[in-house]
Amino acid sequence: MNKLRLGFVGAGVINQRLLPHFAVADTAAVVDITGICDPIVERAQHEADQFATARAYPTLDAMLDDDRIDAVTIGSPIGLHYEHCMAALTAGKHVHVNKTMCVTTAEADALIAAAEQHSVRLVASPGEMLRPHNQQIKKMIDAGDLGTLAWAMCGAAFGNYHADEPERRGSHTGDTVDPTWYFKNPGGGPLYDLTVYSLHGLTGILGPVRRVTALSGTLLPHREVNGKPIAVEAHDNTVMLLDFGDNRFAVAYGTAAGNLRTRSDIEFDFSGRYFGTHGTITGLLLNGAPFDYPGCEIARQAPDGGVHSNFGGNEWVLPHISEPHRSLQELHVFEDIMQMVDWAREGHPSIATAEHARHVIEIIEMAYLAAETGVAQTLNTKF
Ligand SMILES: NC(=O)c1ccc[n+]([C@@H]2O[C@H](COP(=O)([O-])OP(=O)(O)OC[C@H]3O[C@@H](n4cnc5c(N)ncnc54)[C@H](O)[C@@H]3O)[C@@H](O)[C@H]2O)c1
Repeated sequence: MNKLRLGFVGAGVINQRLLPHFAVADTAAVVDITGICDPIVERAQHEADQFATARAYPTLDAMLDDDRIDAVTIGSPIGLHYEHCMAALTAGKHVHVNKTMCVTTAEADALIAAAEQHSVRLVASPGEMLRPHNQQIKKMIDAGDLGTLAWAMCGAAFGNYHADEPERRGSHTGDTVDPTWYFKNPGGGPLYDLTVYSLHGLTGILGPVRRVTALSGTLLPHREVNGKPIAVEAHDNTVMLLDFGDNRFAVAYGTAAGNLRTRSDIEFDFSGRYFGTHGTITGLLLNGAPFDYPGCEIARQAPDGGVHSNFGGNEWVLPHISEPHRSLQELHVFEDIMQMVDWAREGHPSIATAEHARHVIEIIEMAYLAAETGVAQTLNTKF
C-alpha cells in the first residue's frame, strides 16, 4: 500500500509540535511529509528543511495544486478552517482539521457535503472518544453504575495558555508565532479552543444535546503578548446550560479564568464530572476511587501516574501512540491525523467524525445566540 503524502497547512505552534511524530519510524513507513504552507514562508521552510520529502509553499492554493499531495492536516487559525478545508476537499484531498472544524453549522454541513461529493475522508479533531477512559465512562453510565444520571459538569479556562506557549516567545527557533487570532472573531475564545474538548467528551458519553442556553461576554478586553497590546473581540467568559432530554442537564464553561482543578495557573476539565442518584465520576475516579479502563496499567506508568485524564499516560494509550511517540507533544492531535491516514489508506472509518464536530459546533453557535437573545435554543443536529 502506498504511503500517504501529507501536506501541513500552517507552520505555527501545533504543526511545529506535530511534525516530529512523522520522523518516527512507524509513522514514516506510512506517511511522507510532502508539503508545508504558511504565508510566513520562512516558517514553513524552516519546518520543511527537516524532511527530505517536504517542500515549502507560500499559499495553500500552491500546495493544493501539487499532485504529489494526497491529504492535508489543517493547523491554521480556526477562523480560516472553513475556507481551507473547503479548498482542500474540493481539490480532492483527504482532510484532517484541527479543532474546531469551523464556526457555524451551515459551514459544517457544506464541508460534510463536499467530502461526500469528492469521495474523500474528513476527520475532525478532537477525537475525545478515542480515549479509552471516555469509552469506559460511557459504559459505566449506560450500565447504571451511577444510578440515574442527573447532571454533569465540564469545561476549561483560557488563562494565559496561548500567550505563554514557548513557541510564541521564540524559545527554540527565534520565531515568535503571534497568537492574536485566539482573541478575535471568528473562531477566537475558549469555547472553540478548549471547551470543544469537553463538549466532544460530554456528548460522546451522554449523546446529543437537545437545547442550550448561556451567559457570555468578554471579561478581559485588553491583553498583551510579547509587549504587543491585543484588543480582545471574542467572548472569553461563557457559561452554558445544556439539556440532554429526560431532565438530564449539564453545565459547560469556557471562562477567562478559574477551573475545577489546578495545575499551575491553567487547568482543563475536559473529562468532566458525572453525578447520578447512586454515584459520581470525577475525572478518573468513580466514587473517589480510581476505576479501571483498557490500557490503564500503561497509563499509570507515566510520570504523572496516569492520574490526569487528558495528558500523560492517558495520551499514551491512544491507538497510534507507540513508545517513541510518548516523549513528543500533542499526542492526541497526532492520533487524530493518523485516524485520517488509516481511513484514507486502508478504509478504516474513524469515530472522530465531522458529524460529531458539527453537533459540537451547533452547541457553541446556539449558546452564543442564546446569550445574545436571552432565549434558549433548540438544536437540530445529531451524530
Ligand atoms: N497551540 C496549541 O496548543 C494547539 C493545540 C491543539 C490544537 N491546536 C489547534 O491548531 C490550530 C492552529 O493553532 P496554533 O496554536 O498552531 O496557531 P498558531 O497561531 O500558532 O499558528 C497558525 C499558523 O497558521 C499560519 N497561517 C495564517 N494564515 C494562513 C493561511 N492562509 N494559510 C496557511 N497558514 C496560515 C500562521 O502564519 C501561523 O504560522 C487551531 O485549530 C488550534 O485550535 C492548537
